[in-house]
Amino acid sequence: MLVFAASDKGGTGRSVTSANLAFRRALGGDDVAYLDFDFGSPTAAAVFDVPKATGGIEQGGLHSYLQGKATEPSRLDVWAETEHQLLRDRPANSGNLVLLPGDRSGGEFAVAKDTVNRCIDLFLRLNSEFEVVIVDLSAGRSYAMDMALDVTARPEMRGVQARWLVYHRWTRQHVIAASGLVFGQRGILAGGVARGHDKEELRSAIRFVRAAVPDPEAPPWSLVPAAQSSWMRKCDQDLDRLAADRDVGFSAAIGSVPLEPVLQWREQLITDEDVLSSRIANLETLTALQDLADKLTDDEAWGPV
Ligand SMILES: Nc1ncnc2c1ncn2[C@@H]1O[C@H](COP(=O)(O)OP(=O)(O)O)[C@@H](O)[C@H]1O
Ligand SMILES: [Mg+2]
Repeated sequence: MLVFAASDKGGTGRSVTSANLAFRRALGGDDVAYLDFDFGSPTAAAVFDVPKATGGIEQGGLHSYLQGKATEPSRLDVWAETEHQLLRDRPANSGNLVLLPGDRSGGEFAVAKDTVNRCIDLFLRLNSEFEVVIVDLSAGRSYAMDMALDVTARPEMRGVQARWLVYHRWTRQHVIAASGLVFGQRGILAGGVARGHDKEELRSAIRFVRAAVPDPEAPPWSLVPAAQSSWMRKCDQDLDRLAADRDVGFSAAIGSVPLEPVLQWREQLITDEDVLSSRIANLETLTALQDLADKLTDDEAWGPV
């Protein structure tokens, strides 16, 4: 299955959350590939603590492959390459976890016919090798997003299931932006239909993910002065209403990841030890990530909205 991770804005939590979803699926035994398609800023390797590809790989990354300068894109085995302190040893019963980084010197590039064909080849190969293939797209209405919509509409890709996660933070600008990215004039649905997708089918394959959401009912926010607490609750309700008005409401959202210091400050893979032994991360965060990871392949969480 292909999972496209999209967002209208940068800084939504798309890479940090998606990398953790990849990690959780691999911990559960699936073979997982993570593709850094954020062509203008290919830094997702940092979240996996893979120093070789932080900021992109020196040679032969996804930029090179898609532009015909390499016959195969570089693959990094995260279990072997990560410098994450707790992941030096591959966890028992885990599946493969492979990162395909972008090029360090790469930037956004216009998509040519050859690029699309190479992308189709790559997705077909990876889809038969991995249970889950997460594609972290550039923010906004990017070349990467257009290519993903184009490629997934092609007849060659008919047998390949594709789902979309659209990330946004829990703020007014982010809710409005996420709605625009999906439902706007040049959004995913319009762009998809223009490339041959069935509108209802595409719509049912798109879900929103709320990232870095503060919970007014949980510490530390539940411990602030009463006036501040009730003001926060009111803001939260206003956002609920705005999201519902823009079709980004509860039923269109597949998950919500709490505001988490470890993700904010270190942008890392959260392990069970981080929650249970060192206690630097919150259980609510781990639970939210696991729930979202499980839902990626749970058909009951998808279907018509
Ligand atoms: N759940 C979270 N809680 C707190 N901070 C988060 C969370 N998710 C992401 N962040 C913060 O948001 C920033 C942007 O996240 P990132 O995944 O890099 O966004 P994107 O890929 O959408 O540009 C990160 O630097 C991190 O500090
Ligand atoms: Mg990112």
